[in-house]
Amino acid sequence: MSGRGPCAADCARVLAERIELRPRVQIVLGSGLAGLEDRVQDPVVVPFADLPGFPSTSVAGHRGRFVAGRVADQPVLLQAGRFHFYEGLDAGVVAAPVRTGHAFGVRTVVLTNAAGGIRRDLAPGNLVLIEDHVNLSFRSVLAGPPHPGEPRFPDMSRPYDPELARLALDAALKAGVRLTQGTYGMVLGPQFETPAEIRALRAAGVDMVGMSTAPEATVARALGQRVLAFSLITNWASGLGGSDGDDGGEIGHEDVVAVGEAAGKVLGPLLEDLVPVLAAE
Ligand code: HPA
Repeated sequence: MSGRGPCAADCARVLAERIELRPRVQIVLGSGLAGLEDRVQDPVVVPFADLPGFPSTSVAGHRGRFVAGRVADQPVLLQAGRFHFYEGLDAGVVAAPVRTGHAFGVRTVVLTNAAGGIRRDLAPGNLVLIEDHVNLSFRSVLAGPPHPGEPRFPDMSRPYDPELARLALDAALKAGVRLTQGTYGMVLGPQFETPAEIRALRAAGVDMVGMSTAPEATVARALGQRVLAFSLITNWASGLGGSDGDDGGEIGHEDVVAVGEAAGKVLGPLLEDLVPVLAAE
């Protein structure tokens, strides 16, 4: 699983041919968040299928495309849909959208995801700022020969930019949005966790669990980009959540998408507030 994946420079050339703007901010939309696309002014859509070497996405709720346009008058590259290791894809493919954005000029990456809440105060519908992650997928998106411009052994002591985090917390405070911070645990999936796995994740210091984001944050840091990331809590993690003493019941992808869509209505305006701040950084 160490394919080099699509050539970022070739893919960026296709974006540059179709898109007049030169966004420095890329926003990756997770499960149920695709509605944020509607907030883009004068959108130019480039389907992943038009980028050389990109597979087309298969997961329900993940549309695979870049959408460039203005959000709050600032040029932005939205990414609706992403690639996951659980799809059986190579590291090079999982990393391709971020590498493509970087080759196109992006310097700040905003990652969003749906996640299961493990920490007791993280209930469905909550929004969490990711302050760090534990990669429990045991896959590295950087496995294989180093890519041009990426160090062999990149530093990961500050995976999520503390200054951007502070700006996000300020924006949330101003907007009256509750935004707590937490540590994201990435698992390989695609199955949701067992209750015993969730107990193990909690013991490992994980506050919320999902199947994405760590790879993109890792490759973005290897490229020297700044990363800001949010989890939308869509469900209690496996074995948790029954306030009346039950175990919270089964977890389904449809519920994840539905709650993600509802919580996205809060994250959307917050991102819109943040874009001018991020673009000015
Ligand atoms: N586990 C893993 N990934 C997820 C979950 C979960 O509970 N919810 C949304 N994505």
